[in-house]
Amino acid sequence: MTTAVAHPNIALVKYWGKQTKPGNLPATPNLSITLDTLLTETTVTAAERDEFLLNGRAVQDAKVARFLGALRNRYPLPAYRIQSENNFPTGAGLASSASGFAALMCAINADAGLNMNAEIMSEWARLGSASAARSCFDGFVALVPPLWRAQRLAPAAHWPLSVVVAVTSNEAKSVSSTQGMERSRETSAFYNAWVRASGDDFACASDAINQQDFEQLSEVAELSCLKMHSIMLTSKPTLMYWNAATLACMEEIRRLRSDGTPVFFTIDAGPQVKAVCLPDAVDSVTQALGGIPGVKQTIVCNLGGGARVISP
Ligand code: DP6
Repeated sequence: MTTAVAHPNIALVKYWGKQTKPGNLPATPNLSITLDTLLTETTVTAAERDEFLLNGRAVQDAKVARFLGALRNRYPLPAYRIQSENNFPTGAGLASSASGFAALMCAINADAGLNMNAEIMSEWARLGSASAARSCFDGFVALVPPLWRAQRLAPAAHWPLSVVVAVTSNEAKSVSSTQGMERSRETSAFYNAWVRASGDDFACASDAINQQDFEQLSEVAELSCLKMHSIMLTSKPTLMYWNAATLACMEEIRRLRSDGTPVFFTIDAGPQVKAVCLPDAVDSVTQALGGIPGVKQTIVCNLGGGARVISP
């Protein structure tokens, strides 16, 4: 029996759309920060047959089944009882699949003695969910060609950033990221332009992180987020992950920034708003977002560690 933990990450340069060849390969280079506070804890126990319990309930999960199948094609593994718990809403745009597959890969790696290093683990975790590759590492993480293994661009200590998550809904999203990005690739008239520009956004964000240039990072990260949501909105049928509180948070964050507070927003496939800020701004950002009608909860995170075994 082995238990591992992993944190969600949030992309500052987004992944939305896959290559058409096998391997769950993103169509665009992407870059993220790994958070602390939010956590998935996963225990694997050798069993008679595979069983997956998510937050205490037995579920059939096709992605988990496919992931185990792919691993077993390469490694002799026992059947596993997998117990996975999230301390935050699941499937609601808070990257539970990223932390989930990173924790699962890390637990199986240790339990079965596969001896993978973090890069190889990230390659396998990517097969479960591409964003999970990034949760294998701490700090600032890139997922780029040609190998599409995650790499740490800089450790968390390089540039302490904080993230205030404004939770505007606890409901699971109706269209998953996997389905949504496939729809966008097939139907958005702007999809090819999005893919073409992604390399420049990635280079600009990497440079901002190297230089610790908050303004440059704010501009490119908000732009990457808004471009991704434009692709979602122009898909057929349209994909609209925001609600009224999402928009109110975006407006408030832009107001704070124009008043001199170092903060920018990013939003994934769900209505939650992640306000990335310098640590000194956490209190004012939390207060401002917490007061917006429709914001149910704010959660403060700093940069967190990569996937790791906690027991035995
Ligand atoms: C909007 O990694 O969940 O969060 O690879 O199909 O499992 P699959 O998709 P997933 O997509 C994440 C999309 C995003 C942006 C990002 O994290 O880069």
